[in-house]
Amino acid sequence: MEGETEIKKDDLAALEGVGPAMASKLKSGGLTTVEAIIVTPPREMAEKTGIGFNTCLKIAAAARKLVHVDFITAEELWKKRQNMLRCSTGSKNIDTLLGGGIETQAMTEFIGEYGVGKTQICLMLCVFAQLPSEKGGLDGKVVYVDTEGTFMPERVYEIASAMGLDSHETLENIFLARAYNSSHQCLLIDRLSEFCPENNVKLVIVDSMIGHFRGEYIGREHLSERQQKLNGLLHRLLRLTEAFNLSVVVTNQVQANPAQFFGDPNRPAGGHVMAHACTHRVYLRKGSKGTRLAKIIDSPYLPENSTRFRITEKGIEDVED
Ligand SMILES: Nc1ncnc2c1ncn2[C@@H]1O[C@H](COP(=O)(O)OP(=O)(O)OP(=O)(O)O)[C@@H](O)[C@H]1O
Ligand SMILES: [Mg+2]
Repeated sequence: MEGETEIKKDDLAALEGVGPAMASKLKSGGLTTVEAIIVTPPREMAEKTGIGFNTCLKIAAAARKLVHVDFITAEELWKKRQNMLRCSTGSKNIDTLLGGGIETQAMTEFIGEYGVGKTQICLMLCVFAQLPSEKGGLDGKVVYVDTEGTFMPERVYEIASAMGLDSHETLENIFLARAYNSSHQCLLIDRLSEFCPENNVKLVIVDSMIGHFRGEYIGREHLSERQQKLNGLLHRLLRLTEAFNLSVVVTNQVQANPAQFFGDPNRPAGGHVMAHACTHRVYLRKGSKGTRLAKIIDSPYLPENSTRFRITEKGIEDVED
């Protein structure tokens, strides 16, 4: 099986029944690699490229034949996960909580109320992701999809300087995209299957994932449409993590649950769709004396531990218990 699973990144012409014209249609629809074709549902492929649905089915089948990905053994999956990289958040406590940092081939979600530190953690990750692996990084560049206009280059500059890095170079390696509404957000995320491999992007941040959706789809009658769109978008992000061995980090807000009388009345927004798509969920809360609490919730293999951190001019730092 080894060697066969080695995916030829941009050899679309090697696909059965795909000529140069078809290949360019695929590319213009953002399907630039054989991998991208394999992981995109044929209906979506047809919509993006204007190629007929039945032809898309055939192209997808040809792509799968080329790389034999229908079944893999658990051993092969284990091997694939050995390529998984981890990126430090700058806080040893949070890294430990996450089993050693945020993972590639996974989506990590930071949830919490306003001002709790979601964006600060994202900014730390923007800097750390660029470091070589022995320094806790992913040795790659960063895409930051900013839906709220809260990305502050000055803050990244400050964090990078405090780490003794060349701040200008750090800023050069972060590609920023401001998403003005949910459709724009979808459009930007669609471009990533092309943009990430071309630019050695190893971390994609969407801050916040859900803000526009909550603002635009108000009322019960729009809920299912909203959830469907959100689901599609989250799965596109998940596919990126798999296809390019990169990390996706999303932020999410909390909403009050009026039915809850005891304990924390807040719960993550986005319902089951968010809960199921995100590999690891970290719930952030404000603690005493300006500290913050981070807690793992429903992870497939991380224990439900919690830890404390603090936001300082250097970024985020541990609080010793
Ligand atoms: N340079 C700094 N030094 C110390 N603390 C800072 C600095 N910059 C920001 N903070 C703190 O970070 C907090 C804001 O965190 P952040 O912007 O990450 O919140 P958030 O969870 O993203 O909120 P929202 O939901 O509104 O986006 C504030 O409490 C602020 O005081
Ligand atoms: Mg924020």
